[in-house]
Amino acid sequence: MHLSIVVPTYNEAPNIAELVRRVTTETAGIDAEIVFVDDSTDDTPDVIAAVAAEATIPVRLIHRARRTGGLGGAVLEGIAAAAADACLVMDGDLQHPPEEIPALYARFLQGDVDVVIASRYAGDGTSAGLAGRTRVMVSKASTALTRAMFPIRLKDVSDPMTGFFLIDRRALDAETLRPRGFKILLEILARKNLRVAEVPFEFADRHAGDSKASVRQGLHFLTQLTALRFGKMSLFAVIGGLGALANVALVWALTHLGVNYLIAAIVASEVTIIGNFLLQERFVFHDMKGAASGVWSRFAKSFTFNNAELLIRIPIVALMVNTGHISAVIATAITLVVAFIVRFVFHSLVVYAP
Ligand code: GDD
Ligand code: MN
Repeated sequence: MHLSIVVPTYNEAPNIAELVRRVTTETAGIDAEIVFVDDSTDDTPDVIAAVAAEATIPVRLIHRARRTGGLGGAVLEGIAAAAADACLVMDGDLQHPPEEIPALYARFLQGDVDVVIASRYAGDGTSAGLAGRTRVMVSKASTALTRAMFPIRLKDVSDPMTGFFLIDRRALDAETLRPRGFKILLEILARKNLRVAEVPFEFADRHAGDSKASVRQGLHFLTQLTALRFGKMSLFAVIGGLGALANVALVWALTHLGVNYLIAAIVASEVTIIGNFLLQERFVFHDMKGAASGVWSRFAKSFTFNNAELLIRIPIVALMVNTGHISAVIATAITLVVAFIVRFVFHSLVVYAP
């Protein structure tokens, strides 16, 4: 099998026959199958079974007992069950025209990317099929927000929220993904650095039935965005906090052993800087290491930054206390918070830059 076409469906009965017919036409000459992953409450599974019996390409049906992860969960189940590593994901309502399949597949066969994205916002793509001006505005605004939050990962992605893409399953770390509703591609792209290409397409009108998009899906999306962006930052903060505690404990232990205070402080700081680096490599930026520079180069950048930060922070605290008349505790707290944010940004954008 060369290509598996994964189609999530939720009450799409009137669209199935037409979808299978057009996909069959477009995949002539390709060894392809269709995998429906269905959560319907209507007769969609019966319709799929009937259409499958007549179809000239393999049509499989996974009917899920539980709607875990919604649309995104269904897509991942389909990808896991696919016969081919090349998995093309598309909606079941024909808003993603099957006529684009050859272009997506041809781009994929060039072999230099992990994902080919069908984009409404690249080249001569359009989002005409989005019903209503509000939906168009919401889509454009949330796309802009998302791209601003992931300036590096989504640098070359004009449409991270599309539901139409072709992915090489071998490039996925499925266990790191947390599908929550509609935006599965965003989940995939934000969690791991993948090589992407885009092909423009015209988002068509729904063939039949109604959209399942809802305010609830919008809330899912905001939760997802927060988890994707600030999940890393909170882990980074936890590790930083543990480092600070270890630092204090080490100074205490060393001075009790009779080591000079200054030496104890230097040793404790360096040990925690190295410990933090190892922890953040393992738990925070594990998914970004592959595309970044080598481990010694990452270590050198991180180590230099943390030592520079240490050296700069002390005189700044002194300056704040002496000229700004701020108490030493508050000055230390302020500089620690600022340093934490700068450190996080520096590690995300410099140390682990692709
Ligand atoms: N299995 C399963 N489970 N399928 C679902 C579920 C679910 O809970 N919810 C929706 N689907 C299926 C629908 O049956 C349809 O085939 C597809 O997912 C997309 O749902 P629509 O209701 O048609 O969504 P839309 O048109 O508003 O939005 C789609 O297109 C946008 C633009 O490409 C989605 O794919 C969006 O994520 C995408 O941004
Ligand atoms: Mn749709």
